[in-house]
Amino acid sequence: MKFFADTADIADIRDLAETGLIDGVTTNPSLIHKSGRDFIEVTKEICGIVDGPVSAEVVALDHETMMKEADKLRKIADNVCIKVPLTLDGLKTCRALTDDGTMVNVTLCFSANQALLAAKAGATFISPFVGRHDDNGFDGMQLIEDIRLIYDNYAFETEILVASVRHATHVLQAAKIGADVMTAPPKVIRGLVNHVLTDKGIEGFLKDWQSTGQSIL
Ligand code: G3P
Repeated sequence: MKFFADTADIADIRDLAETGLIDGVTTNPSLIHKSGRDFIEVTKEICGIVDGPVSAEVVALDHETMMKEADKLRKIADNVCIKVPLTLDGLKTCRALTDDGTMVNVTLCFSANQALLAAKAGATFISPFVGRHDDNGFDGMQLIEDIRLIYDNYAFETEILVASVRHATHVLQAAKIGADVMTAPPKVIRGLVNHVLTDKGIEGFLKDWQSTGQSIL
């Protein structure tokens, strides 16, 4: 499963990139606001740090203006992936952009039928928001299972990008279902390494090592 970092924080992206664990980055207007940076500048900087797709979201609601915004954004770097909302204008924009060889991430997906539409529109990625789905009393992971089943039934190539990931269990469940990608805040990605028995094991080994009186270097 590919890991994308869901952030526009450059320090976090650099740090995670050094671990070799991240395959791309996703941003959205809220994350750009949180970064306090200029959208175009920060997107360019992120594209220079990671080789994989970097999602940059349009904010227009009509197809014509979405295309103009996408045209500006895709000129930033070859690895820019244009993020469009799951609306009819967004899907129309998705088709036009993917037909033109540009990666597209269709975002704000909350139903399997919406995911079916995105695949039919040629989306590179579909972003179902599992955390927000759960927050509203729905089952986010059931949505991922349904999309996986539908995409496999018809051999759609659109990748399932599990978004709005809030905790390690979301990552585990998404991996078990066979989602292609998950995007999560840096804190959640780093947290995946934690296990109390790993910490306890290190502590025990170091204590015994000190008792040997030896040194490796
Ligand atoms: O990738 C979409 C994600 O940023 C939304 O996450 O936590 O705001 O629901 P959240």
